[in-house]
Amino acid sequence: MSSFEEPDTFAALEKREWTKADVAQSYAHVFAKAADMVVPHLVSAVHAKTGVSALDLCCGHGNVAAGLVAAGAQVTGLDFSSAMLDMARVAVPGALFVEGDAMNLRFDDATFDAVTIGFGMPHVPDPPKVLTEARRVLRPGGRLAFSVWCGPEVDTALGYVFGAIELLGDPNVALPPGPGANDYADPQLAFPVLKAAGFTDCRQSMVASEWRVDDPGAPYDIFLEGTARGGALLRPQPPENAEAIRSAVVAKVLDKHGSGPQWDVPIPAVVTAAVAV
Ligand SMILES: C[S@@+](CC[C@H](N)C(=O)[O-])C[C@H]1O[C@@H](n2cnc3c(N)ncnc32)[C@H](O)[C@@H]1O
Repeated sequence: MSSFEEPDTFAALEKREWTKADVAQSYAHVFAKAADMVVPHLVSAVHAKTGVSALDLCCGHGNVAAGLVAAGAQVTGLDFSSAMLDMARVAVPGALFVEGDAMNLRFDDATFDAVTIGFGMPHVPDPPKVLTEARRVLRPGGRLAFSVWCGPEVDTALGYVFGAIELLGDPNVALPPGPGANDYADPQLAFPVLKAAGFTDCRQSMVASEWRVDDPGAPYDIFLEGTARGGALLRPQPPENAEAIRSAVVAKVLDKHGSGPQWDVPIPAVVTAAVAV
């Protein structure tokens, strides 16, 4: 056996990180406070109500599934992280949760009336494949909605953290090649892929999600502890780089959002909705 270690692929990194119980729990209990604010927008975009059969892809700890169930829908949640599914099954006993890969669904064609994907698109190596699979399992006229965090062109904790990594991170700490974290917030990229997958009536809206924090360095900690991509870039930083990145995030939050003692740090999202042809 060779002692040479194969470099990580994007797919392997995502699966490994989300399957860690501490990452999954930190995401669910802290990071997802902002994702939870997006749930009602996903639920209304797919017209969830009694009689609607919904599939929630990349369901995580079940926050979107909970919203769909509360609206009356019959819900199946799918994720590849058993740590996430363990939490989802406890949190949402009214939904069915299955382990699987969003790029390769084991459901028959035209099984569902609605598909939701809460912040899953940036984590799959092949997002167009997920949209093709979503279209396949939707009935004609069925509705899709997915959420993605806005990129650094707006004020966002994501931009504060990744901007600081770019400036102050150790250049030897890098991610394997993968899709951009905010690609599908861009309608010019998302809509043609949706149309090619068999969707029409594509639209987007922005959600002003945010975190209320009592430490201006909290956005750094939240990305460090509760994300796959952010954690993989932040955890291996040498101590001096880590300290410089956190200090830069603190300075940005103080500059943009005042002197506290509490800060509402924006992490806005884009919800994209479309109808299956
Ligand atoms: C950022 S979390 C989103 C959780 C939840 N949907 C929300 O809106 O807060 C991303 C989730 O996608 C899951 N995931 C990533 N790639 C996946 C794939 N290829 N198939 C299934 N689940 C995947 C991860 O395990 C994780 O639970």
